[in-house]
Amino acid sequence: MTTATPPGSSAYEERGEIRRRVAAGEPLVGALRTNFFRAAHALDPTAVEDSLAVLPGNRGIEIYSSLLAWAPLSKGERVLDVGCGSGGAARAAAAIVGGEGSVIGVDPCREAIEAAAERTPPGVRISYRRGVAESMPFVADRSIDCAVASLAIEEFSDLERAMQEIMRVLRPGGRFVASVMAFDRLRPMDASFMGAVIAVIGLRAPGALAGRASRASIPDEPADARAFTGAGLLTVEEQEVQLAAVMETTDDAWRLFGRSHLAHLLDEEGQEELRKAVEPRLPHTLYLPVRFLRTRRPG
Ligand SMILES: C[S@@+](CC[C@H](N)C(=O)[O-])C[C@H]1O[C@@H](n2cnc3c(N)ncnc32)[C@H](O)[C@@H]1O
Repeated sequence: MTTATPPGSSAYEERGEIRRRVAAGEPLVGALRTNFFRAAHALDPTAVEDSLAVLPGNRGIEIYSSLLAWAPLSKGERVLDVGCGSGGAARAAAAIVGGEGSVIGVDPCREAIEAAAERTPPGVRISYRRGVAESMPFVADRSIDCAVASLAIEEFSDLERAMQEIMRVLRPGGRFVASVMAFDRLRPMDASFMGAVIAVIGLRAPGALAGRASRASIPDEPADARAFTGAGLLTVEEQEVQLAAVMETTDDAWRLFGRSHLAHLLDEEGQEELRKAVEPRLPHTLYLPVRFLRTRRPG
């Protein structure tokens, strides 16, 4: 697996400890889940941009530009990218809003903010800040035309507070768009493929199948739906798209799975087992369902 942080680092140690607890059946919920994502992103902050964002999608879908096109964004707008990771969506937004607009990227992971800054060419004005969606005191009330969260809201530790904070910073009429994985929409043959993968997780990291993993995708779960409406945001519109992971060889499969959260949950032996579970099912084109969400502040 590609790692930005070497063995021996605190994130590496923390991931090892979390692996042991989840392998012993401790549910991956609450602080354990938050710490798991924190360690995984610190170890490989560009994984999402390098693996998921490069997959071809149906009807020309590309996860950053398609989401922004659906917002839709226009020149001169003020954009906030919440959970910006290595900045893929923030840079795509900067290209649309141009010099008269502005973009702020927020992420709690120091390594992600560093990677985002490194990937941003000189002259592209994006202000990256370390922080969490649940509290962004550096963003003024009603100052944002469009807030964006690409594949990030599943990781927020408190979705309700995060939505209230997004509502606070949006101007009246301002939009919020997000993308979430929608595994409940897998094609039957892909559900069967993923079943083999999940079987390894069930044996090797059983605690990982509790909590969020066993619930519906956002915003179908009632508590998630309430987080949106409770904050005062208008009805969430949805669009479903699919990313196609074409896997001819085990190396192709490992380019996707090897940098995924699933691989972070497994030790070397477990990762080897995952490879072996996938191998006999190749070649396979796995359609990964992604749901785009769109809502706005009334006004
Ligand atoms: C799956 S990555 C997506 C990164 C990026 N948006 C992309 O699409 O390439 C999720 C990101 O959300 C960030 N994150 C996790 N908890 C967060 C929180 N409470 N507030 C804001 N960002 C958070 C993580 O650090 C990580 O960078």
